[in-house]
Amino acid sequence: MPMKIVKYPHPALRHPAKPVSLIDAALRKIVAEMFQLMYEHHGLGLAAPQVALPYQVFVMNPTGDPEQREHEQVFINPELSDPKGLVEAEEGCLSFPDLYQKVRRAKEVRVQAYDAQGRLIDRVVTDLEARIVQHETDHLHGKLFIDYFSPGAKLSSRAILEAFEKEHRRAQERGELPSDAELIRQLQALEKEAIVVG
Ligand code: NI
Repeated sequence: MPMKIVKYPHPALRHPAKPVSLIDAALRKIVAEMFQLMYEHHGLGLAAPQVALPYQVFVMNPTGDPEQREHEQVFINPELSDPKGLVEAEEGCLSFPDLYQKVRRAKEVRVQAYDAQGRLIDRVVTDLEARIVQHETDHLHGKLFIDYFSPGAKLSSRAILEAFEKEHRRAQERGELPSDAELIRQLQALEKEAIVVG
């Protein structure tokens, strides 16, 4: 099945992803497809749960420009620490098309992870990169940017979120999307595959 970005409230978005135990050609193929989809949808980052894969992997290119491949970064099993400062800025998410709201994030954060070649990454990222890294790492833990909305932002997003929920239910009624229970079973089956440890 071709990889595709799932939209809120697909259960993959709330399903905590498992750490990756083997970085191999199969994983690099997933990563390449994720970059492709990210560029097609004009994103700056994309996390594996957004393509219904329950693995701790995300890709990022802060330029969003497929011509600037040198800015591509892959983070596997990322861990964040040492957050510093707070900045509020408008944020969106490819799983919530056309929804943008202000979200407060650390201005700077340390990220430790592996890259697609299995090399250790240990960096301090700031500003836009820090925002993307925090947003995408949240995805790996089933946390979404809507969780940070202020009461005012929640209120002004209510209609669009309800529209997403309605569309999700309709797709299930039309048989274009399996039930939530079946989608969760699919995620659990993927977790048992070889590239992942429980
Ligand atoms: Ni997102």
